[in-house]
Amino acid sequence: MLIVRAGTIHPVKIQSANRPSKSPPIKPIVVFVSGRGTNLQALLNAAEAERWEQELAAKVVAVVSSSADADALGVARAHHVPVHILVPEQFGSRAAFDEALARTVERYAPVMIVLAGFMRVLTPAFVRRYVGRMINIHPSLLPSFPGLNTHQRALDAGVRVHGATVHFVSEDVDAGPIIAQAAVAVHANDDKVSLGARVLQQEHRLLPYAVRQVLEGRVLFSERRALVVGIERDELALLAS
Ligand code: GRF
Repeated sequence: MLIVRAGTIHPVKIQSANRPSKSPPIKPIVVFVSGRGTNLQALLNAAEAERWEQELAAKVVAVVSSSADADALGVARAHHVPVHILVPEQFGSRAAFDEALARTVERYAPVMIVLAGFMRVLTPAFVRRYVGRMINIHPSLLPSFPGLNTHQRALDAGVRVHGATVHFVSEDVDAGPIIAQAAVAVHANDDKVSLGARVLQQEHRLLPYAVRQVLEGRVLFSERRALVVGIERDELALLAS
């Protein structure tokens, strides 16, 4: 079934890096992090296990951290991925930080930027520059619970189903077109730690899955809703109990 939705479509533009003539052009992916890096770890594990470089001609080529002591830096280094540290406090303004970020990113000409626990709101100028190429993982079933402290807020609201979302980044925080979601049941005795742990487990399935869907051109950016090409929309939801 082909699902076609209204809205302007901006297909992801694939750029080539220098590669030997027989190899397909590599699709560079840059990951932004700020903290633990468990989603980065899941992404790198999937890329290795599923042989993304050989099968999809895609590779995580750099990790950019907004914190100098993020555990995610150790994860990147363990996988021999180059890291860049840009600490917001060292820049005079949000715009200056984002310009430095863009300069760092541009040298990799990424087809995709993945925000994997990046605790910074990006300026509209930065978002516009990478629109359709930048995705984020958020620990709730958007549009419920954008922002912080999502697990406690879900418990307080008494929802029976909670989860995580991967979406294209738009100028409004946690509000861009949804690519894929993972749902988990909320248990009667859950607290934010137990619920958050189960959601995180699903994030680790969801993020590599969603990146792959975009890389394979199965989900395209559209201004209002992501455009799903050639697969059932149901496939874009992961369910766990
Ligand atoms: C995840 O819960 C992600 O959804 C949110 O930030 C957290 C990052 O965790 N955006 P980690 O650094 O990947 O472990």
